Amino acid sequence: MRKKIIVGNWKMNKTVDESAKLATELVAAVKGQAFAETVEIGIAPTFLALDRVAAIVKGSPVRLVAQDVHFENQGAFTGKVSVDMLKAIGVTHVILGHSEPRTLFGETDAAVNKKTLKVLSEGLTPIVCVGETRAEREGNVTEKVVGNQVRAAYQGVSAAEAAKSVIAYEPVWAIGTGLTASDDQAQAVHKFIRGLLTELYGSGTAEAVRIQYGGSMKAENASGLLKQGDIDGGLIGGASLKVDSFLGIIKAA
Ligand code: 13P
Repeated sequence: MRKKIIVGNWKMNKTVDESAKLATELVAAVKGQAFAETVEIGIAPTFLALDRVAAIVKGSPVRLVAQDVHFENQGAFTGKVSVDMLKAIGVTHVILGHSEPRTLFGETDAAVNKKTLKVLSEGLTPIVCVGETRAEREGNVTEKVVGNQVRAAYQGVSAAEAAKSVIAYEPVWAIGTGLTASDDQAQAVHKFIRGLLTELYGSGTAEAVRIQYGGSMKAENASGLLKQGDIDGGLIGGASLKVDSFLGIIKAA
């Protein structure tokens, strides 16, 4: 059985002190709780706060996640952060290809692919985000768009490596809008993604990959989504910024 994975993507929110405070509250809230063994929990603060938060989550069940990374090790890449740097402070997972960098900052499928290969080659877990816009859903091209994003991201990735990765299905129209995909809508796309992974890698690998849902997930709608056969967790934005609402989703998982 796939272990559920709930990750809070804090995006560009919270100062270093505020991040440390929220991380401290979360660590205290999950300490000694049985659910912390059955659900994988992660938080992705701003890059600035990663080092501080690393010390806070150390020894706890809370994993340290980065919101992005560059695909080179070092050098003249102003503004970028490398996998080596993340690894050195204890980051274990990296969010890649989120729709915000894709749509706002020109992140390409090719870059997402290079980053996925790099993160896997360094033994970290990529959380590869895919998802369609509202216009694409209304134009009935959701599977085409999501399928292309998955194929592109996994170009050159072996079955053994793919099995260790996580995919986040985040319909762009559901992110930060309060609109959530219905349980059936989400499950249909998750099932499609798993079918595609089966085609690419065989069923053993496809069954091992965890596929999270993201897009206005909150404690109130989490159980319905997380009950679906192919929904293995959540990537949470807004509701991860307060310990109570994030904890509600973790408990639902
Ligand atoms: P919201 O939960 O705020 O809709 O954000 C989802 C998301 O983009 C997580 O990566």
